[in-house]
Amino acid sequence: MLEVGCGYEGGVAPALAAKGYDVLAIDPEAPEGPFYRQIALEDLDDPGPFDAVVGGRVLHHVDPLGAALDRLAGLAPLLILDEFAWNHLDEPTIDWYESHHRLLVATGRKPKGPSDLAAWRARHTGLHTYEVLRAEVDARYDERHFEWRPYLYRWLGGPATESLEAGLIQAGAIRPVGFRYAGVRTDAVRSSASAR
Ligand SMILES: C[S@@+](CC[C@H](N)C(=O)[O-])C[C@H]1O[C@@H](n2cnc3c(N)ncnc32)[C@H](O)[C@@H]1O
Repeated sequence: MLEVGCGYEGGVAPALAAKGYDVLAIDPEAPEGPFYRQIALEDLDDPGPFDAVVGGRVLHHVDPLGAALDRLAGLAPLLILDEFAWNHLDEPTIDWYESHHRLLVATGRKPKGPSDLAAWRARHTGLHTYEVLRAEVDARYDERHFEWRPYLYRWLGGPATESLEAGLIQAGAIRPVGFRYAGVRTDAVRSSASAR
């Protein structure tokens, strides 16, 4: 497995290795360790092939996105993503997040996410929207799994935040802004169909 953009905390590589996968995890900010390389995707010299690529909260940052997806599709037939549809943050969702953030701070906690989402957005220009990311992924892969999920609990932390966010999404009070996707490279689908 190749984990792209594992981040300074090391991503899911340790969990994959613990399950018995042979894993390489890359990121210019990757930690030291047996399966890590401190390198960007564009500079990766390993020709693969890998069985699968996994990326957590990475592709909405990567530019140019099309070239990165071409590279990933060349390295493995399967793409697994855990992502953030930041542009789906609507007013009720932002209001809930920011007020919950204030509540946590008032009770002495230190949420790792920003207190002000408009200020966060102003600091993060050039992020790809969900629709742009989906169009680029769909141009190369056939969807096998997709689900909308809670996301903001990761920024908020605190007890029961994930179940609270999930409950509010289910009730239609806020929007889900996390998603998980798995897809198979389109040419791999075509070649297995023509082999049958
Ligand atoms: C929001 S962080 C996510 C880190 C980790 N996957 C996680 O979920 O905690 C995005 C990461 O993508 C990495 N990244 C962005 N562009 C990249 C590229 N072209 N090649 C490899 N990593 C990249 C950044 O260095 C950063 O660590």
